[in-house]
Amino acid sequence: MNTDIFETFAYAKINLGIAVKGKRPDGYHELQMVMQTIGLHDTVRLSLLEKDEIRCLCGSLSGPKNLAYQAAKLFKEGLNSRQGIRIEIEKRVPIQAGLGGGSADAAATLGGLNRLFNRPYSQEEILRLANQLGSDVAFCLNGGTQWAEGRGEILLHLPKAPEMPLVVVKPQQGINTGESYRMFDRLGESHPLSLEAWQGALQSGSAAKIASLLSNDLEAGSQAILPVIASLKEELRREGCQGVLMSGSGSAVFGIAPSAKRAQEIAHSLTKKGYSVWATKTISPKYT
Ligand code: C5P
Repeated sequence: MNTDIFETFAYAKINLGIAVKGKRPDGYHELQMVMQTIGLHDTVRLSLLEKDEIRCLCGSLSGPKNLAYQAAKLFKEGLNSRQGIRIEIEKRVPIQAGLGGGSADAAATLGGLNRLFNRPYSQEEILRLANQLGSDVAFCLNGGTQWAEGRGEILLHLPKAPEMPLVVVKPQQGINTGESYRMFDRLGESHPLSLEAWQGALQSGSAAKIASLLSNDLEAGSQAILPVIASLKEELRREGCQGVLMSGSGSAVFGIAPSAKRAQEIAHSLTKKGYSVWATKTISPKYT
């Protein structure tokens, strides 16, 4: 039996832009998004087991409900495989934050298993499995800077974002994604994103130009559910971040800091106020 352990980082994402274009007959919402990988990550370790079972160890998120478990199940089913799989996840990315931690773990599991099994699936087939698992999983397979449409499954590479220092803050309470979309239906407004404007800003490498385009249609609804989101944005602005936005459906918010040193200082100051805070940066990971 292959006794290798495959270890990989599962990087979180932020949304530099989200526009909700409308509601579809299946109840989901049609989106435009600018998605960006950041340095904050979980660690995923995969290995094979003698017994035909999937063991997913992730603290209080262990077991069949974990999206990484479901990724392994889909992977096995597609191959009619009786191979046992062990998944161990060291969690750092907070949940119910809009940072795509669960999607990143599922994508890392799909990509890692394909390597451990000597690549039985093509890239297109892995992408198809990713789309069955959730809206952000396909993005997480390659990460970097991408434009997404549909539910997030239609992806287009954008010019790589410059390395920007970030402060990510999460209030204690999370946001339920479905609830955020329901609130958008009640009071949200749609502000379409311009692909050309985003391509231009990213190409320029200017954090100020990128900051000027940040927008998230889900923000107003999530702020109505959790007003602390608006206060956190204000705090980040006061601390000198040049662009501040909620990520995904929240509840995490991020700010583009003027320097890595300032990001550390801001993180320190907000940690003292009792929030969960990370000083990190935008990255373009290289998955092999
Ligand atoms: O993608 P995920 O399963 O996390 O979405 C949770 C809920 O958020 C969905 O059941 C749906 O109500 C809502 N949603 C939506 N449109 C999307 C993504 C999510 O309405 N594009």
